[in-house]
Amino acid sequence: MRKKLLMGNWKMNKTIAEAVKFVEECDSIVDTAEKNNIDLGVAPTFLSLKDVKAKAPKGLIISAQNVNDQTSGAFTGEVSPEMLQEIKVTWAIIGHSERRTYNGETSQACNKKMIKLLNQNMVPLYCCGETLETYEKGETKNFIKDQIVAGFKDIPCDKAKNVVIAYEPIWSIGTGKNASKEIAQDICAFIRATIKELYGEGTANDIRILYGGSVKPNNIKEYLTSPDIDGALVGGASLAVDSFHDLLMNIIQ
Ligand code: PGA
Repeated sequence: MRKKLLMGNWKMNKTIAEAVKFVEECDSIVDTAEKNNIDLGVAPTFLSLKDVKAKAPKGLIISAQNVNDQTSGAFTGEVSPEMLQEIKVTWAIIGHSERRTYNGETSQACNKKMIKLLNQNMVPLYCCGETLETYEKGETKNFIKDQIVAGFKDIPCDKAKNVVIAYEPIWSIGTGKNASKEIAQDICAFIRATIKELYGEGTANDIRILYGGSVKPNNIKEYLTSPDIDGALVGGASLAVDSFHDLLMNIIQ
């Protein structure tokens, strides 16, 4: 049985003080998640990571929103996996569509980051998703397949299952136009089938695939009851403690 995962992506929101305040108010939410066998996490900015990690309840996953594929060196503005490990942060979101769009991140660059993270025994949360144009042309599956194949290049079978994949159609992110549960399930099943082609049934059954894009407390349940959707990557609705709590409760109830 794959463990469900609810991950908040805070993007460029919250000062250090605000981020710490949020996690300090999370004890009972984390407790409820643990009792219901659900993984729960948030991804603050690099600047907040250290304090958030230090102040957060133990069971809350703290993830970076990005990472470099090198250990150290002349890479201005970058942060390495080893630096994250020093503050006990072991997760990183890779290839979010905003980084692909605004920072020119390619699936090939994501692949290098994933290999590096896996070699460090860290967890990559690899995002994929198509533009509205690709969706309207009916080319979503080809596009996603390319992102998955390129992202997983040279990643061995014994490590592949440690990656978490998030399917996030770009047209649904921050727009309030969430994909229907049928579309989300169809593409997540397709991603699982692609992983099966690459790694076989065992890995396909083990790997966790999330949906993301305008997930809110009132629609999260429909995704989480779909057979191939193992959780959600949530932006806007993860920013307030109340809403984060409601997201979790609406998975459970
Ligand atoms: P959203 O963002 O929930 O605000 O649409 C999702 C994401 O970008 O991960």
